Amino acid sequence: MITSIRACVADEFQQVNELIIQQLKSDVAMVENVGHYIVDAGGKRLRPLLALLAASAQGGVDLSDVKFAAVVEFIHTATLLHDDVVDLSSLRRGRATANAEFGNAPSVLVGDFIYTRAFQLMVNLGDLSLLQSMADTTNTIAAGEVLQLMRAGDPSVTETQYLDVIDRKTAALFAAACRGSAILKGRDPSQQDQMAAYGRHLGIAFQMIDDVLDYTGDPQVTGKQVGDDLNEGKPTLPLIHTMASGSADDAAIVRDALSQKNSENLTGVIAAVHRSGGIDYTREQAVLHQQSALAALDGLAQSAALEALHGLADMAINRER
Ligand code: IPE
Ligand code: IPE
Ligand code: MG
Ligand code: MG
Repeated sequence: MITSIRACVADEFQQVNELIIQQLKSDVAMVENVGHYIVDAGGKRLRPLLALLAASAQGGVDLSDVKFAAVVEFIHTATLLHDDVVDLSSLRRGRATANAEFGNAPSVLVGDFIYTRAFQLMVNLGDLSLLQSMADTTNTIAAGEVLQLMRAGDPSVTETQYLDVIDRKTAALFAAACRGSAILKGRDPSQQDQMAAYGRHLGIAFQMIDDVLDYTGDPQVTGKQVGDDLNEGKPTLPLIHTMASGSADDAAIVRDALSQKNSENLTGVIAAVHRSGGIDYTREQAVLHQQSALAALDGLAQSAALEALHGLADMAINRER
């Protein structure tokens, strides 16, 4: 499915992948070791695809869009290196995480290298509004990750508070990938907001499905461990819904595991979440955001890229990886 979504920007997508490899160059061996380790494992490259498709749907992809797409994937990659340290995760993209393979310190520091390399690339693009947007976005992501950390193990977290966290930690970058392409096209602020709204709702839907897959996914397919979120005591929507609307017994099973930040009873928690409709409810909420994402595309002229943006929104919901 993703190959067909990519088709209308296939050449530019290839250029982004080449630029990513080229920009990992460093005279410090450990930077390249860790950098290649995570980059060569692949990943879906959804965010750069989003930036390219948004550019294409607004009139065409040029070299600035390709560079910007690489920037977006670099920022994503840096957050993953940091996120896996913070989340104590051991599996990513079907292999041991960089922290498991090289240790926490190299992961954090190479994450910094990749973050800052993204900003070097952006300075090279020479667009101050774009720089402003991405500086705000990375700051928002960082605050979102801190906020999530502060709420770990807290069963009183509400659905609104959950939404705030995923809006910052995930949807902000999806939104910025879309806004950036509008900025580079010189579109006016209301058109920028419209593109960003598509990315933001897409990102929220994407993270909600990620939070479902953390309980229901197949590690062979997702390339990530099941139960990581419970181990970290993350009050994600499947759990929040179960605690709010499930039977007293199911709510207690979830509340206990969450506050103990412990996945020993993962099977019991998964059963409780299923019984209480926590998975279905989270999927329904994701679909609502997918629909809002599609609605935000209304003003764009018909094109293959627009079709692909629709396809991407479907993929965010129906994905298994
Ligand atoms: C993982 O993102 C982090 C989340 C926001 C859930 P992806 O699922 O896009 O990760 P890769 O890049 O494909 O590995
Ligand atoms: C990812 O959140 C958000 C960022 C990396 C900023 P998660 O912690 O849910 O992502 P995974 O599940 O580790 O990919
Ligand atoms: Mg994580
Ligand atoms: Mg996750």
